[in-house]
Amino acid sequence: VRALKGRDYITLMDYTTDEIKYLLNLSRDLKSRYYQGERYNDILRGRTLLMIFEKPSTRTRVSLDAAATQLGMHVIYSNPQELQLGRGETIADTARVVDRFVDAIAARVYKHESLIEMAKYAVVPVINALSDKEHPLQALADALTLWEVRSRLEGLRIAFVGDGDNNIAHSLMIIGAKLGWEVRIISPRKYWPTKFAELLTEDTRRTGANIMISDNTEDVRGVDAVYTDVWVSMGMETEAEERKKVFRSYQVNAELMRKAGPQAVFMHCLPAHRGEEVTDDVIDGPQSVVWDQAENRLHTAKAVLISLLA
Ligand code: CP
Ligand code: NVA
Repeated sequence: VRALKGRDYITLMDYTTDEIKYLLNLSRDLKSRYYQGERYNDILRGRTLLMIFEKPSTRTRVSLDAAATQLGMHVIYSNPQELQLGRGETIADTARVVDRFVDAIAARVYKHESLIEMAKYAVVPVINALSDKEHPLQALADALTLWEVRSRLEGLRIAFVGDGDNNIAHSLMIIGAKLGWEVRIISPRKYWPTKFAELLTEDTRRTGANIMISDNTEDVRGVDAVYTDVWVSMGMETEAEERKKVFRSYQVNAELMRKAGPQAVFMHCLPAHRGEEVTDDVIDGPQSVVWDQAENRLHTAKAVLISLLA
């Protein structure tokens, strides 16, 4: 494992299989310590995390803040409108200034390139708190959840059903490629992540992972997990009507879970649009692990903060 200290956490593509396993092991360790009663550890006392969020957030915002607090950090949360960014100060100038005040920046942005720009001008680590392309904090929590559910990390099979070319699908493909999983993206052709998958050919060859893209919901058969996400991601609102039509037959409902089989768990990064991509009986049903998956955002956020900063 190359030293993680000081690195950005913008895309898991930049992380090796061993580095991802290290983060997952640390997350598991932190989680078990939390359950043994360790609510506070001053490993990052005196450090400051700045969060700049261009879009709403519940899980990412609260888990990062709670994680930082439990590690002794101070957190500043802002949106661009409250900063001079909202009046046209550039990302580069903002990054150069706040870099001199804080120890890390977590940003949720519309354009992935904004994170790259920020990281170019900030020496401190920049953490991707979701962009249009990727959501690497979520992927780490997803992998931890699957590891717990299946008691292994290798050889897992997961079907992502719905908007196959969104940030969540991409990050799942990356972590699956790094960990040697079979990732089936089941989505209407127009939303196939063909280009994105090509970026992962080297990883899949090395790990034996398999990224399969299909428009057939029969392909959920036999997987360890069925995963879905909203049909209309933040920033896509103008396409809402069209998307709701195209994705209708990709709804995760009881029938689709039956096709997958009783061994399959149901996953969702949340927030869910109940009645659209998933029905109440599935998300609230016995196969659903979505609350444990959400909980894991806390423990994985702590692992990321410690690894980049301690
Ligand atoms: N899953 C996730 O990132 O949720 P939020 O948008 O609430 O942060
Ligand atoms: N794909 C969703 C994920 C939210 C956590 C979005 O970008 O809105």
